[in-house]
Amino acid sequence: MLTPGTPRPRRLRKNNAVRQLVRENQISVSDLIQPLFVIDGEGAPEAISSMPGQFRMNIVDLCSECRQLTELGIKAIALFPSLDQSLKSAVGAESCNPNTLILRAIREVKEAVPDMQILADIALDPYTTHGHDGVLTEDGQDVDNDRTVEILSNMAVLNAEAGADFVAPSDMMDGRVQAIREALDEEGLIRCGIVAYSAKFNSAYYGPFRDAVGSSTAAGTTLLSKAGYQLDPANSRQASREIELDELEAADVLMVKPAGPYLDIIRLARESSNLPIAAYQVSGEYAQIHAAAKMGWLDLKRCRDESLLAIKRSGADLILSYFSKDWAMDQ
Ligand code: PBG
Repeated sequence: MLTPGTPRPRRLRKNNAVRQLVRENQISVSDLIQPLFVIDGEGAPEAISSMPGQFRMNIVDLCSECRQLTELGIKAIALFPSLDQSLKSAVGAESCNPNTLILRAIREVKEAVPDMQILADIALDPYTTHGHDGVLTEDGQDVDNDRTVEILSNMAVLNAEAGADFVAPSDMMDGRVQAIREALDEEGLIRCGIVAYSAKFNSAYYGPFRDAVGSSTAAGTTLLSKAGYQLDPANSRQASREIELDELEAADVLMVKPAGPYLDIIRLARESSNLPIAAYQVSGEYAQIHAAAKMGWLDLKRCRDESLLAIKRSGADLILSYFSKDWAMDQ
């Protein structure tokens, strides 16, 4: 027997009502951002095999998907193009074609569902044959930072002009947030914000996404390494420095990516900045929960909800997740 007066924290867990009264964190549908993949043409949605329930959709289907998402209360999408191989090149010139797929998609979504907030991804990987996020140096050994930043700035202007509410540079080049801000402002695009992928790690959890946009096996490079620009998973001080720099360069929102394996970095970002913090629960985090559930080893919905809640608890304000729609449908 315990002595009288022993603290009994279980009193706060004694029934569902009390548990709800003292609950510290919850997900709200307005925290969630659904990433979506768009393809050209009029074909049926293409299932992405490593991401069950996710599709590459044509623009018409994308617009109806956005209508459904708004009805569910989802306020924002992150858009990624999946391009025909014939449009890719070493320098990714298609990224700055004023009528490229993603720009047409943004214009049409904005027309169909004006309130839907669109985050346009700014990086060259969907456009390059080698699958890197930028253009290569002459010797092909590195991504050319400054030339890439110039292209990304153009791309950001085009995406903002098409109606993107936020541009989201996911490339990890030095100085790109400042360059993009200047380019947008010079064109009078002051209302377009920047969601900076500030602490983006060189993660193996991006595998399914690279299948989705076809950037993984480009030019026969099955082991595409982005270690020269994405953060080393071992490092939190470098993450801190990237976060600080992006804030100084006038980012509006700072992002940590992946989310689940980097909850410490989300917390660090939350504690070191007053800007909103976004976290990206990436394709591999989604795929692993689905795979285990398919094997009958994990409960899909409970793991989905727990994984999102953990991201929120660690300090994220916004969560990009492939589970967003699914989660909203269950509320
Ligand atoms: C690349 C980009 C990646 C993702 C979003 N933008 C992958 C990469 O860096 O190779 C990954 C998203 C995911 O895995 O869900 N600009």
